[in-house]
Parts: sequence; structure tokens; C-alpha cells
Amino acid sequence: MIAPSILAADFARLGDQVRAVDNADWIHVDIMDGHFVPNLSFGPDITATVDKITGQHLDVHLMIENPEDWVDAYVDAGADCLIFHVEATDDHIGLAKKIRQKGIKAGFSVKPGTPIEPYLADLEHFDLALVMSVEPGFGGQSFMPDQLDKVRALRQTIDEKNLDCVIEIDGGISEHTIEKSAEAGCDAFVAGSAVFKKADPRAAVTQLRELATQATHH
Ligand code: DX5
Ligand code: ZN
Repeated sequence: MIAPSILAADFARLGDQVRAVDNADWIHVDIMDGHFVPNLSFGPDITATVDKITGQHLDVHLMIENPEDWVDAYVDAGADCLIFHVEATDDHIGLAKKIRQKGIKAGFSVKPGTPIEPYLADLEHFDLALVMSVEPGFGGQSFMPDQLDKVRALRQTIDEKNLDCVIEIDGGISEHTIEKSAEAGCDAFVAGSAVFKKADPRAAVTQLRELATQATHH
């Protein structure tokens, strides 16, 4: 699955930009509150606008404090999968249950400095695990290859237990990094700059998907 991040889009042409990637699997919506991360992006209103523009699956990545207070707002805005950071809550399983009770998918994310091992036993509560391959907060940063160890650990656990949990990677994904991410075991790939900073975002999505598919079949 390829999930273009609208954080890298031209906001003055948001509608056109979202429609330009109608060949994507998901649309990734980065929510930043200026507290959990130093940057500020958008909130439920823009998310609802994107949902109106496209029928695509909205992958909503909450980089905010107190994510439990915002579940209803993002469900109402049209989120299909709501991803929160484990660093922002002390009850990740309770929050996952709350999200699933609303009838949408629940995901968790870990910052580069957060180990994955403590969460491997809890994967049955999640539809998605998001590994950050940059420090969250900004688009256009360099991919951190050491984060792929987390992907391998997730892949092993998910396969061993035969779980239905998607592994997604976010940060610095491009034509140069997507293949090694796919080989490590990722199913879904967020790409901001590598899609929207290209002259033809639609072609970029197609190319990224081809590279990931070929690498997976190796
Ligand atoms: C970073 C965001 C990413 C970001 C990725 O905090 O979570 O989704 O938009 O941007 P690129 O693909 O440019 O690294
Ligand atoms: Zn993101």
C-alpha cells in the first residue's frame, strides 16, 4: 500500500493534489499539535475536507498529546485508521479498544528512540503498526535505516502468530529507500516529498508501488 502524505502537498491546491493521487491506496493525514512535536499542521476540519474530496481510505497519524480526547473528532472527520503514538498515552491497549469500538482501524506508532519490543505482545489489539523512520514533526528528512530492525521484529511476530496487523513505515521513503523497507517486511509506505514534490505525483505513486512489489517478491 502506498500512502501519500498531504503534509508535502501544495495546500493552496489541496483538492487538486489529493485528486492527483487517486491511484494511491490510502491518503496519509499528519496531525501535529505543536506540543507532542514542535510543528503544527492541521486538525479535524482539514481532515473532513480531504474526506469530502476523496473516497480513499484516510490514514490519520496523530502526533498529538492526549490522543484519547480526539478520537471522536477524527472518527467524525472520516478517519478510516487512527494511529496514535505510544509515547503520548499510558494506556495504549485501552485507546486501541476505544478506537475499534467506533468501527475504524486502530494503529500505534513509535518514535525512532522508542523500542518496539514492549509492544510486540500487544499486536492483536492493533490493525496497524507504524514505524517512524525519521523524528516525527517534519517532512523531507533523511531515512533512518536502523529503524528497519523494528520492522523485522514486527514481521517475525506477526507471521509467527499469524496476526492481521499491517506494518507501515513513515519518513524519508523514496525510490531510494522503499525497496529495503519492503524487503524488511513493510506492507504500507508513507511518502510525502517523494510524491508531492515530484512533477507527476501520480507517476511517483505508481513507481513506488512497483519498486515495493518487486522487492517483496525477491
Ligand atoms: C513526519 C510525518 C510524515 C511526513 C513524511 O512527522 O509523519 O508522514 O509527512 O514526509 P517525507 O516522506 O517527506 O519524509
Ligand atoms: Zn505521518
